[in-house]
Amino acid sequence: AAPGPLAGMNALVTSGPTYEAIDPVRFIGNRSSGKQGHAIAAALAAAGASTTLVSGPTAEPDPAGCKVIHIESASEMLAAAQGALPADIAICAAAVADWRPAQLANQKMKKREGGEPPRIELATNPDILATLSAPGPQRPRLVIGFAAETERVAEFAQAKRRKKQCDWILANDVSPATGTFGGAENEVHFITASGAESWPRLTKRALATRLVDRIAQHFGKSVA
Ligand code: PMT
Repeated sequence: AAPGPLAGMNALVTSGPTYEAIDPVRFIGNRSSGKQGHAIAAALAAAGASTTLVSGPTAEPDPAGCKVIHIESASEMLAAAQGALPADIAICAAAVADWRPAQLANQKMKKREGGEPPRIELATNPDILATLSAPGPQRPRLVIGFAAETERVAEFAQAKRRKKQCDWILANDVSPATGTFGGAENEVHFITASGAESWPRLTKRALATRLVDRIAQHFGKSVA
C-alpha cells in the first residue's frame, strides 16, 4: 500500500447497484453509477489504506491501488464484504436492492398469448451495513453508511444511523432534480451520534477526499 495517513489500516467499501435476477436475462436494479463509492475507495487507497472495493455492475473503471471484487446481487455483496474482514474502516456507499425475486426462474420466462402478466413475489435482502455494524469481534472500528432520502433528509438519516448501528452516516438527497444518482456531484449532511453538519455541494471526488480527511483525523493521523 502507498504511504499516507491511513498506512497500515484496512478499508472496505461497497459501491454501485445490485442486480437481483428474475430469470437468466432479466433483473431488478437501480440507477447507482458507482461514482461515489469508487471515488471513496480511490481516496482511501491514495491515503495509504489497504482497500477492498466490493462493486456491483457499473461502467466505472476499477480504481487504482484497490483490490476490486465484482459481484451482482446483495447476497453476493454481503458474502464478499464479510470475506474482506477484518477491516478497520467500512464504508457502505452501494445502493443495495432491498428486495429480490423470491424465486429465480431457471429459464427465460415466456409470454403466453392472452395470458396474465407474471406476478413477481419479493423476498427481503440482507442488510450489509447493519450486518457489518452489529457488535462483535469482527466489527470494523469505524463503520460509515450513506442514507438516500427524498424528504426530511437529516432527520430520517439520523434515525437510519441509530437503527443500523453505524458510527457515521452521510445523508444525501436523491430526489431526481438533484442528480445525485449517476451525477458527478453530491451534497451531504455528515451525521454522527453528536450531531449533523451540512457539507457544501462538492464533486464526488472532493467529497471522498473530505471524508477520508475526517477518517484520518478520527484515528489521530495527520493529513499531509
Ligand atoms: O453510485 P452513484 O451514482 O455515485 O450514487 C451515489 C449514491 C446516491 C448511490 C450514494 O451516495 C448513496 O446514497 N448510497 C446509499 C444508497 C442506499 O441504498 O441508501 P439507503 O438509504 O437505502 O441505505 C442506507 C445504507 O444501508 C446505505 O449505506 C446502504 O449501502 C446500506 N444498505 C441498504 C440496504 C441493504 N440491503 N444493505 C445495505 O448495506
